[in-house]
Amino acid sequence: MPTFQADEAQSYEQRITRLIPGYDLLHELTAAQLKTLLPDEATILVIGAGTGKDILALAQLNPHWHFIAQDISEDMLAIADQNFTNSGLSSRVTIVCGELEPNMGHIDAALCLLVMHFLPDNGDKQALLKTIRAQLPSRAPLFLADLMAPETEFERESQLVACRELGLTEVGEQRMRHNLQHEFFALDRMRLAELLDHTGFGVPHYYFKALGFTGIVCRAE
Ligand SMILES: C[S@@+](CC[C@H](N)C(=O)[O-])C[C@H]1O[C@@H](n2cnc3c(N)ncnc32)[C@H](O)[C@@H]1O
Repeated sequence: MPTFQADEAQSYEQRITRLIPGYDLLHELTAAQLKTLLPDEATILVIGAGTGKDILALAQLNPHWHFIAQDISEDMLAIADQNFTNSGLSSRVTIVCGELEPNMGHIDAALCLLVMHFLPDNGDKQALLKTIRAQLPSRAPLFLADLMAPETEFERESQLVACRELGLTEVGEQRMRHNLQHEFFALDRMRLAELLDHTGFGVPHYYFKALGFTGIVCRAE
């Protein structure tokens, strides 16, 4: 997994839009669904909040929601904290650095965007989903986005072409090629549905697909 520390945190916001076609759209579509689903008074748990992109997109759509920004990288959260201050959001966000713990209080919805694909499917993905499920009341939505297993033999190569079009350098392309093979633990649709079922979530509904990068929403059962 990339470290998301030091330089990797500092360069994240520049890098990520070149690595993930439709990165902004993923966040806009996620936020639009939450606006449709949640009342004004709601708390949203963001697992792997990074530099705060998820929360900045959500906060634009509703001036009342509260957020918990959780991440294991102090450096990413330091940038998020500055972004929240710059946007006047600090009083609406609780920042939690470290592994996700149970009992974070009442949560109405959870997001885990571009995080779980870094965890191997050796029990780690299941453990994360279980901890998220333990935070949610029944029927609460979970939005999940990850790199998934390629659906055609030309999908991954096409993804690199798309990244070059987005401004990724040749060196960046080589790194991404390596990462796609060695740093991501991509699930196929059957295995994702199985893991969600085993951890107390319902059927995944697909709402975002940019070649391998895929967004789903499901509900706590
Ligand atoms: C690609 S970034 C995504 C950040 C943000 N969700 C976004 O869409 O920009 C992945 C983030 O997940 C965090 N992360 C990795 N493993 C994690 C875990 N087990 N629990 C929480 N955060 C994790 C990393 O530190 C990093 O900030």
